[in-house]
Amino acid sequence: MTEIHQPNNPLREALRACRGHFLWAGLFSGLINLLYLVPSIFMLQVYDRVVPTRGGATLLVLTLILVVSLGVFALLDAVRMRLLLRASVRLEKMAASNILHRILGTAGATTTQRAQAMRDFDTLRGTLTGPAIIAIFDAPWAPIYIIISYLLHPMIGLLALVASVLLTAVALGSDYATRKGVSDAQDRQTRAYRGQDFSIQSSEVARALGMRDALVMRHMIERAEIVRRQGTIAGTSGIFLAATKFLRLLFQSLALALGAWLAINQSISAGAIFAASLILGRALQPVEQILGALKNVMGARKAYRDLDAFCKLPDVTVPRTQLPSPKGVVEVENLSVTVPGSDRPILSNIGFRIEAGEIVALVGPSGAGKSTLLRVLSGALEASDGEVRIDGARLAEWDREALGRHVGYMPQTPTLFPANVHTNISRFRAFEDEAPDVLDRLVIEAATQAGAHDLILRFPQGYETQLHQREGGGLSAGQRQVVALARALFGHPTVLFLDEPNAHLDVNGESRLMATLVELRKRGATVVLSTHRTGILQAVDKIMLLRDGTIQAFGQRDEFMRSASQMAVQPTPVASSERDAAPDTRVLGPDGGRSNDGERDNNTDEPPAGPDDKRSSQEGGR
Ligand SMILES: Nc1ncnc2c1ncn2[C@@H]1O[C@H](COP(=O)(O)OP(=O)(O)OP(=O)(O)O)[C@@H](O)[C@H]1O
Ligand SMILES: [Mg+2]
Repeated sequence: MTEIHQPNNPLREALRACRGHFLWAGLFSGLINLLYLVPSIFMLQVYDRVVPTRGGATLLVLTLILVVSLGVFALLDAVRMRLLLRASVRLEKMAASNILHRILGTAGATTTQRAQAMRDFDTLRGTLTGPAIIAIFDAPWAPIYIIISYLLHPMIGLLALVASVLLTAVALGSDYATRKGVSDAQDRQTRAYRGQDFSIQSSEVARALGMRDALVMRHMIERAEIVRRQGTIAGTSGIFLAATKFLRLLFQSLALALGAWLAINQSISAGAIFAASLILGRALQPVEQILGALKNVMGARKAYRDLDAFCKLPDVTVPRTQLPSPKGVVEVENLSVTVPGSDRPILSNIGFRIEAGEIVALVGPSGAGKSTLLRVLSGALEASDGEVRIDGARLAEWDREALGRHVGYMPQTPTLFPANVHTNISRFRAFEDEAPDVLDRLVIEAATQAGAHDLILRFPQGYETQLHQREGGGLSAGQRQVVALARALFGHPTVLFLDEPNAHLDVNGESRLMATLVELRKRGATVVLSTHRTGILQAVDKIMLLRDGTIQAFGQRDEFMRSASQMAVQPTPVASSERDAAPDTRVLGPDGGRSNDGERDNNTDEPPAGPDDKRSSQEGGR
């Protein structure tokens, strides 16, 4: 096992590594704030020294000092910004890849949380170079101005103190009053955007079914709620902002009045009157700045909290012991999968063993759990209980990236990525260190084996045909299926999990698939596939009948067929070119035909509204 130190919480680790940057930025902020005093001191000197003495030379010297100081001030300000920029770059370098790994590799968070994590990260990175961080760095230096005010005259110091306390109270009040609302509105907005994105993707269906009005209505209801909440927040923070402005102007003028009164009483000089007002204004500025940037500050704080919680999920990049390439023994022990957020079982207490080189077909009615089982076997979905072992090692013990190279998985909905066909089949391997000629060879081998090669050559740009993000990506369902099959076959995997690989194939495609299975058997690959068609069963060794998440029967094909026919029950609907053509009642008795939309995308984390009946009847199998 490689002893590389992997960050447990990449965000905290990266922020810790930026500590030096922040420390220097803090120090520069101190100097910057000291230099901020220069114009006030200059004014004081001009009024008190230059004017009464008509000292032109003094004015020149003072002006020179002022120019140099302001130059240094500007330089420090620029350096501070650069430091923060570097911190943000370092954050990106240290944490971004790990967070992306978690987003793509973890099963422990919802799709929404995962989609949000990178945005949170970018919010944080953006905050590091935005006005909010400057306000935060300036705030601790406000006491300097109060002390200087005190030095001008204790009464002015007291006024500055009272003003700061009052303005800070207003800032805290504003934060308190809007915090919950802002976080809630942000969550709602994220959800609303996701909903809208989904509607946009599915707008074809919506157009055909006359759903546009209803969908617009639905989104408008969500939007109205968000707008209402945002309005409430804006109203509240508007009041606080107005109060701040009022207090600042008031205190600045009061400082002037107090200065004048003190000057009348000969306690301070005339120049100090204006200096007092200027310094007090400066003392209050950070508070006002923070209040102005409050939305950003709060957004950043929420982003930090959410991302920090997300980063507490197990690190998927922790290096694992490299196990030898799998031979293809698939074992399952006491495997259960429940619907997320409830305890309704989709698979309950399943156990079996598939030897290396065996070809097994999963059959059973819609909703039996075939796809779910294939997802768990391939590691796409985490089991709630029990183990899946490949060559004796639990999936958790495998280096998943390494194992993935020996696995071919084809989901029921063959999701292809918005990239060209070659990139899709080669599993984006070009982004790693694979040589192009090796890749080309492997891609063409896989495509040929899947029966996709000739078909791809007829695409407008052949293997370079770009698939887009819209549903289908520009291919027919059957074309998609063979490309996805080619992707599953890429790199000569030893274990293949194919979810209804023939669902959209024509007769040619189906016989090609049979030939592929024969080749895979020759190569000694283990194959688990699900199907609703009986034709393909000719090419398998064993059949497993699933129903209601349990194994009803599992055995050698011929034996299985015999006992099925003895019970006057066929394992699946009669072969036909259209799946589900025969009613499931023919397969599994009166209540076996649970309907389920086979095209539904199972990759979402949100449980769909599905039938939640637990059937206990055991008829239908053996
Ligand atoms: N992400 C999910 N969240 C909640 N329930 C799910 C999820 N995916 C599947 N299910 C439920 O699990 C059960 C099994 O679904 P699965 O997709 O495994 O069936 P299947 O045997 O593949 O059906 P089909 O032949 O129609 O493809 C169904 O009752 C379904 O409602
Ligand atoms: Mg399925």
